[in-house]
Parts: sequence; C-alpha cells; structure tokens
Amino acid sequence: MSLTSSLGPIGVFDSGYGGLTILSEIRRQLPQYDYIYLGDNARSPYGTRSFDVINDFTLQAVKYLFAEGCPLVILACNTASAKALREIQQHYLPISDDPTRRVLGVIRPTVEAISEYTKTKHVGVVATPGTVSSHSYATEIGKLFPEVVVKEQACPMWVPLVEYGESDKPGADYFVRRYTEELIEADPEIDTLILGCTHYPLLRPKIREALPESVQLISQGELVATSLADYLQRHPEMECRLSQGGGISYRTTECPDKFEELASIFTGTEVDAVRVKLGS
Ligand code: DGL
Repeated sequence: MSLTSSLGPIGVFDSGYGGLTILSEIRRQLPQYDYIYLGDNARSPYGTRSFDVINDFTLQAVKYLFAEGCPLVILACNTASAKALREIQQHYLPISDDPTRRVLGVIRPTVEAISEYTKTKHVGVVATPGTVSSHSYATEIGKLFPEVVVKEQACPMWVPLVEYGESDKPGADYFVRRYTEELIEADPEIDTLILGCTHYPLLRPKIREALPESVQLISQGELVATSLADYLQRHPEMECRLSQGGGISYRTTECPDKFEELASIFTGTEVDAVRVKLGS
C-alpha cells in the first residue's frame, strides 16, 4: 500500500484468525481505507489466559500497530476487548507519545444492537472463558438495557476447533451441542444469542443447527463495521488521518505459511502474510 508520511492504515488485531471475520465486514463497508491485520497466532488462544497476560500481549500488539503508523486500532477480539481495552484507553493512551490515537473494541457495538433482536428480554452470550469471567457483556448490557436477563456461557473448546480448521468437521458437533444445550437448559427463555467471540462465525452453521429455531444469532462483523463507519463520520479529525489506498497487509507472529493457509479459509481469498515479533 502506498502511504504518505502523515496518513496511516487502520490496525485490526486479534489473537489469531477470528478477527478476519470482522476485517472482512469492515472492508466490505469501508473499502477505501488501508488496513493492517495482525494475528498473534503464535500465542493464541488468549481466551484461557490470565488477565495480566492478555493485557500485556494486547498492549504489545497495539504498540506494534502504532509503530507501523496506524492512528486507529480495532481490537477485533472480544477477549482482548474485555480484558485490555479499558486499561489501554485509560492508562496507556494518555501517556503515550501520541495520545490522539485511538483504540476501539467490539463489545459495545454488539451490545448496542440487542434491543433490535430480543423480545423475551433474555439474551445468551457464548464466549471464551476470559470474556465470560470478565462479565463484560453482562455489565455493558446492564448499563444500556437493565431489564434484560443475561446468561453467559464459556465455550473453551470452540476457538481451538476453529484454529485447527475443524469448525465444519463432524467432531465439532459434540462441543457445539454441549455448550448450547447447557445454555438453553440454564435459561429456556433465551431468544437471542450473541456470538461473543470473533472465531465463532465459522461455527455458525453448527450453532444454528443445535439451537431452537426461535433463537436468533448475533454475529459481530456487520455491527462492528457499521459502528466504525459511524465513528469515522462523527470523528473527522480521525478520518482525515487514515490513508485511502484500499490496501491490506497481513502480519502474524506465527509461520506465514500456516497463517496464509487458514486465513484464506476465513477470507475466501489468497492471503500473503509477513511474520513479525511482538516485544514489550
Ligand atoms: N477471537 C477471540 C475473541 O473474540 C478469542 C480467541 C482466543 O481465545 O484467543 O474472543
């Protein structure tokens, strides 16, 4: 991508491949901008790691994307958004060398949409153990829609199934049914399910099949992309800092061959990736 010195791409970060489901939708709605996608594949999954470790890894990724010239970074990862976003926004950005850069997450834009879906006011959230233990969804939903009952369900096996390319294989059925059944048994009034992990859209056909028809699924890609478009309209001071060449550069902390193979399943196109190292 060709960039002038003062303009930069939008950084999109995930622990692994899941953020590609968000990136695709962002690029569909906002094709004019340049993007850098960073997957910390060598250290994923994040969802079973401790708060401090997720914080450290996410901050390293954000610093990397800032150093690559991104004025705006999207944490396209619920686990990183749940565990590290607030810390970065409140404690890192204000003392960083350019406090006008911005980092946005995926939880708030998802939560804002639920009132358009639920009639029973009972909402389920499936997510990684990290996101569930933070109770970020329940907290954010409670702030915007205090009348809504929220049941969060950790699905520790779902990310590994996706990361190992098993999401559409018969072996995935067992774990999809196990967690969805547990959730619906715990609250049979749930009529809306948030897929609160950017990896889960790859399991969507199996999740759909495992749930009663009355339950609607909310995937995040479109919601996050629409919210970003709205953010850029409301923040012309940020929009004018973004380069507009329509380019995409993929970076991974793992071996690029492996990344390219699996990433092309997510994007449906060929992917060229570069290996990078994240430091402190
Ligand atoms: N895709 C990430 C999310 O949305 C989690 C994957 C992981 O556990 O690393 O939460």
